[in-house]
Amino acid sequence: MSLQLGDTAPDFTAETTEGKINFYDFLGDNWGVIFSHPADYTPVCTTELGRTAQLQKEFDKRGVKVIAVSVDPLDKHHGWKNDINQTQNCNVEFPIIADEDRKVANLYGMIHPNASTTATVRSLFIIGPDKKIKLTLTYPASTGRNFNEVLRVIDSLQLTSKHTVSTPADWKNDEDVIIPPALSREEAEKKFSKGIREVNSYLRYTPHPELS
Ligand code: BEZ
Repeated sequence: MSLQLGDTAPDFTAETTEGKINFYDFLGDNWGVIFSHPADYTPVCTTELGRTAQLQKEFDKRGVKVIAVSVDPLDKHHGWKNDINQTQNCNVEFPIIADEDRKVANLYGMIHPNASTTATVRSLFIIGPDKKIKLTLTYPASTGRNFNEVLRVIDSLQLTSKHTVSTPADWKNDEDVIIPPALSREEAEKKFSKGIREVNSYLRYTPHPELS
């Protein structure tokens, strides 16, 4: 069965472009993103890894460790990494796992046999400091992911792990958040001193809890 939200992220040790890595040691107490792409030296994957490298500071700011997976060998990864840096004007600092034996791909269910029996699809998992899976994304080979969306989701996951709030559609990290319907009006008034905007009994907003 595929990994689901709340499951423990499987640990592994693997060869990467940054040397041998144990996944849990690599993560430490941080948040993590592990994502697969179908193959080295392919166009969409080149833009995806380049975009991730361009956003490295944004991941760092949020305390998120990033690691990529592909079933290609290490020497191929190194050559391709140079291409990514050159063509995408970036510096790939995160490790790329050389998963030739598909150990990691199989642990995370990144091969979808009806899409391809050999290549990984574009899987992405966000993992919390408790090593639980907080979010999964699966895209086909033909569609590159939106890494700004990945950052947006991380903002929501991190905020909602600290405060009793939810975030609405298309939310950005300076906007109002939603008060869960389970909180009574009295409880909400006590908890959210910045104020409550009530649209109806179950749709209530309050200002972002961490911004003044
Ligand atoms: C790409 O990255 O462009 C790609 C990789 C595998 C299949 C199709 C597209």
